[in-house]
Amino acid sequence: MVKTTGEEIVMRRNRPVFASIIATLMLAATPLYAAPASPADNAAYAALVPAYVLVNADRREGVSLSGPWHYSVDPYRDGQADFLGRPFKVSQTRGADINVEQASRDNPNALYEYDLGRAPLADIPGSWIGYDPQLRYYNGLMWYQKRFDAPAADGKRIFLRFGAADYRATVYLNGQVIGEHEGGFTPFAFDVTDKLRAKDNNLVVAVDSTRTPDTIPPTVTDWETYGGITRDVTLVTTPQTYIDDDFIRLTKDGRIAADVALEGADKADQAVEVSVPALKLMLKGTTGADGRVSLSAKAPAGLKRWSPDTPTLYDVRVTAGADSLSDRIGFRTIEVKGSQIILNGKPLFLRGISLHEEEFGPDPSRRITPEASRALLTEIKTGLHGNFVRLAHYPHSEVTTRMADELGLLVWSEIPVYWSANFTRPETLQAAQKMIAENILRDRNRAAVVIWSVGNETPISDARNHFLGTLAQEAHDLDGSRLISAALNTATSNGPNDISIKDPLAAYLDVIGINTYNGWYGNGTLEDVRKTVWHSDYDKPMIFSEFGAGAKYGYHDPAQQHRFSEDYQASYYKATLEMADHIPFLAGMSPWILKDFRSPRRQNTWQQGWNRKGLLSETGQRKQAFFVLGDYYQKKAGEK
Ligand code: GCU
Repeated sequence: MVKTTGEEIVMRRNRPVFASIIATLMLAATPLYAAPASPADNAAYAALVPAYVLVNADRREGVSLSGPWHYSVDPYRDGQADFLGRPFKVSQTRGADINVEQASRDNPNALYEYDLGRAPLADIPGSWIGYDPQLRYYNGLMWYQKRFDAPAADGKRIFLRFGAADYRATVYLNGQVIGEHEGGFTPFAFDVTDKLRAKDNNLVVAVDSTRTPDTIPPTVTDWETYGGITRDVTLVTTPQTYIDDDFIRLTKDGRIAADVALEGADKADQAVEVSVPALKLMLKGTTGADGRVSLSAKAPAGLKRWSPDTPTLYDVRVTAGADSLSDRIGFRTIEVKGSQIILNGKPLFLRGISLHEEEFGPDPSRRITPEASRALLTEIKTGLHGNFVRLAHYPHSEVTTRMADELGLLVWSEIPVYWSANFTRPETLQAAQKMIAENILRDRNRAAVVIWSVGNETPISDARNHFLGTLAQEAHDLDGSRLISAALNTATSNGPNDISIKDPLAAYLDVIGINTYNGWYGNGTLEDVRKTVWHSDYDKPMIFSEFGAGAKYGYHDPAQQHRFSEDYQASYYKATLEMADHIPFLAGMSPWILKDFRSPRRQNTWQQGWNRKGLLSETGQRKQAFFVLGDYYQKKAGEK
């Protein structure tokens, strides 16, 4: 509960008083979370949800277009505009439906400054920094081309779906622009049923990884930009009327609920069945004129709830008309009570770690296969005795959220509203709103995902509060069954060893994420860290969404404990965990970070382009601090 008596704020905070009072009054005036109607008819967000949700597309019948693609760099955007910057017509772009090799043979005088068909090949998915060492640090426009024969449609619909392409993608098929997408970490799809030809389809994708102050994330981050087509590309086949979206979960009052949305000419008055054979459960209903139906029934007594210790998944089948969709779904409830996080009715401490989307190895290219994901998450589950992972700072592949479902790891999922995003620009807000909708609609059937985060380390301002407050409201409306959070670095020092959480945004959050780096960035010694006392005005759970210290694997300095030595990192963890043990409202943590990861900002002798705060080296070698945290979690896991 936020105390809004002006007087109290003045006393505690050494910030521009007027601004913070206005910010708080503005937020106090805005009702917290109108109870969400059933997501099925959330027309309010129609402009933000993708045209085709294609829920569960990774489990639908389809043809993979992943594998070898031609690629060609275009730093001066010659494929989109002439040398004076005048935009080309589609037929003049590199998306034109032309086979340059053939055309050159047909007309030896013709002049083509590019030839995608004979450009180098790369194995997609994966970022271009993995194709050619010369492309490390390349940010800009890249052209991709893939030629393929179309699968027989047999009266069905065919969608072209991208798991993700970083950052802005323009997609051309047989010389037509079929669509664009902004955002590097969420799926997008286009209906290409009537744009395909039987043979030799010419698919060209222009991917621009350029960051600007207006993009999400903005120009400066602390991670490598992995530009390119970074997740699978598939042709997904569905009946003419198909199941576009379903949201299946256990509600807090013990019911199994299913919201199903059909798309297509015959979406109205369609019989829908949702079955869970192992529970002998069958929900039946009929769609309304909008093709939607909400079903629910009391959960059968025999239901085994999903939890990290028992990650039970059930086969669930949704059928409607000619379409049917199967998925593996876990049923659990998550909520907060005071400063506790409650899973399936019991308080739980989140024993976590943060993770970037980067596979093990000296030369990652953001190629996340089930094996790569399992290797990372298994280190958390069995290595650290963890039950939680913060997937930072952007939506990771659905390969990873499904892996978390299977292995039993709770997930914090975030969109990259990071550091100095442009909070005053409406288009940037809309881009962020679309990202959170795409993220939630992709993963809301993943029992593992329990927290939607709307941002990381953003400076307090009215515009920021409104921006993130709007995202938090949207997340809550699209999915009232999960917790909303953000990672804040706005805790204020009330003097040595005494810190208060004070952030107007906290009013919008179910769980307050705090990034704290005293002992590394912050002032004070590890002794100070140990003694630090935390205060919170909010009767809400706090989790340490980040704390951490850098260490180069193999650099030992037990005597001096120099920074970047494994010894200092281990001592830092011991001190911070001791501090954590004295915080009554601490409900979990996800220290920064499981594995050393690439960051262009890190260039000292120990780092050389890597952020070294991992508990593991980039190739998976365990540092001393890995065992400090592992032992701590093992003990905590034993505490009931
Ligand atoms: C920040 C930030 C991370 C960054 C980390 C660090 O808190 O959220 O993205 O990598 O600190 O400085 O290592």
